[in-house]
Amino acid sequence: MIAIGCDHAAISLKQAIMAHLDEQGIAYINLGTDGDPCDYPDMAKAVAEKIISGECERGILLCGTGIGMSMAANKIPGIRAAVCSDCFSTRYTRLHNDANILCMGERVIGQGLALELVDIFLTTGFEGGRHQRRVDKITALEQH
Ligand code: RB5
Repeated sequence: MIAIGCDHAAISLKQAIMAHLDEQGIAYINLGTDGDPCDYPDMAKAVAEKIISGECERGILLCGTGIGMSMAANKIPGIRAAVCSDCFSTRYTRLHNDANILCMGERVIGQGLALELVDIFLTTGFEGGRHQRRVDKITALEQH
């Protein structure tokens, strides 16, 4: 299960991604917004909580740049949110960082690329090994 959310700056991109997930039969929970202006940290919290509770495996957060969403989501222990706008970073944030939320900016990238990044994010596994130690050190920083 995927959790997806956006603010008012990224509704079109979210709709395109939901249609793309529908085409592939991938289940998701849409946490809004679907029209009303909102504050991106509220949406980041809603998506992050679905992951922390175990209800969703991964999340997608969209705003104008993707940056505000990632800053907010990364405040929540257990969340590793990555802002991506290229295929390489998206692939490696799964392989090496075990990112659990993909953040993108509707004002930054086109829909075609965004859909490709979603596919990469959802199909690439974590490599583990030496990268697990490093991810554990990220988690330890939550106690800092
Ligand atoms: C909203 O105007 C914009 O600030 C927001 O979508 C996002 O880009 C913040 O990081």
